[in-house]
Amino acid sequence: MAAARHGAFHPLRVASVDPLTDDSVAVAFAVPPELRETYRYAPGQHIAVRRTTRDGGEIRRTYSLCAPAPAPGAPGPAELKVGVRLVDGGEFSTYALKELAAGDTVEVMAPAGRFVLEPRAGHFAAIVGGSGITPVLSIASTLLAREPEARFCLIRSDRTTASTMFLEEVADLKDRFPDRFQLVHALSREEQQAGLPSGRLDEERLARLLPALVPVEEISGWFLCGPFGLVRGAERALRGLGVGRERIHQEIFHVESGAVAESGAAVEPGAAVESGRAAPAGSPAHSTVTAQLDGRGGSWPVRDGETLLETVLRNRPDAPYACKGGVCGTCRAFLVRGEVRMERNFALEPEEIESGHVLACQSHPLTEEVELDFDR
Ligand code: FES
Repeated sequence: MAAARHGAFHPLRVASVDPLTDDSVAVAFAVPPELRETYRYAPGQHIAVRRTTRDGGEIRRTYSLCAPAPAPGAPGPAELKVGVRLVDGGEFSTYALKELAAGDTVEVMAPAGRFVLEPRAGHFAAIVGGSGITPVLSIASTLLAREPEARFCLIRSDRTTASTMFLEEVADLKDRFPDRFQLVHALSREEQQAGLPSGRLDEERLARLLPALVPVEEISGWFLCGPFGLVRGAERALRGLGVGRERIHQEIFHVESGAVAESGAAVEPGAAVESGRAAPAGSPAHSTVTAQLDGRGGSWPVRDGETLLETVLRNRPDAPYACKGGVCGTCRAFLVRGEVRMERNFALEPEEIESGHVLACQSHPLTEEVELDFDR
């Protein structure tokens, strides 16, 4: 992937806004030729968008790219396509559904994220709920088109047929790859003539269902995406069936308030993740954060109660972030020195924590000196 400056936004023209369901749209952004390498993406990655509100504030949201990713060696994408579902009270989604039109301009950050499957031979599977289909559509379509030795099983859960995003695109994969693409659709509020009886896909149901659908032990990689409850239930079902943690990849789209996760496992609300060597309890009276970002460094005092991202942002407004909620992973940085406490983490895999990465938006210093590297 081409090196893109961390946190850099570019204004991109909206090429189209197409309804997908009553409450969702597909938005395509046109990428000018000089930015195509910057916006090259891997299947499963997302982009952050930024919007200035009427009161001068700023909102950022991340949306997964749904179209097949460009092949290595091919030109970068001429278009970036995302799926946006209306969220109650959601500022950007309301704007996208009610106002956004072709010809408008939106500020878009370079693609990021590690919920990725680079095409390779093997049998893969995904369990998705609602808009969680978005990155998996890119993953499955890229994989099947590029890797003739690959198979993919998509298990998706939606409320009703009418509320199902990318219905046609998924049906198209079935038509194009009938022998290598398997689709199982569960509707929670509608009976289907064929397929699964209605009802939610929870841990217990998945534990019974999965061995009947796929050779669980032969699946090279599982991709779980959607609301917190579905992803955690699917993870527990897979672990119960003996699937190793390293074969499970997950991306959470909605986090119910009060839920807190540590390194990919649900823990009690209020629990924290400590990173670095044995850390003393509590924070020091004064701390300084040193940060490296796009090859330039600086050191600044951390104000009381501030997260490390907030300290860095006061001095380097170009620091990367989107959700500020521990979900998207955009603020990921390498902890070079010192110790931190993370409030919550829905984004980093256990291996990333072990290798010394933290979410700056959730980190508070536990030592007087903390050093972060956003370039690693
Ligand atoms: S900004 Fe999204 S996890 Fe920190």
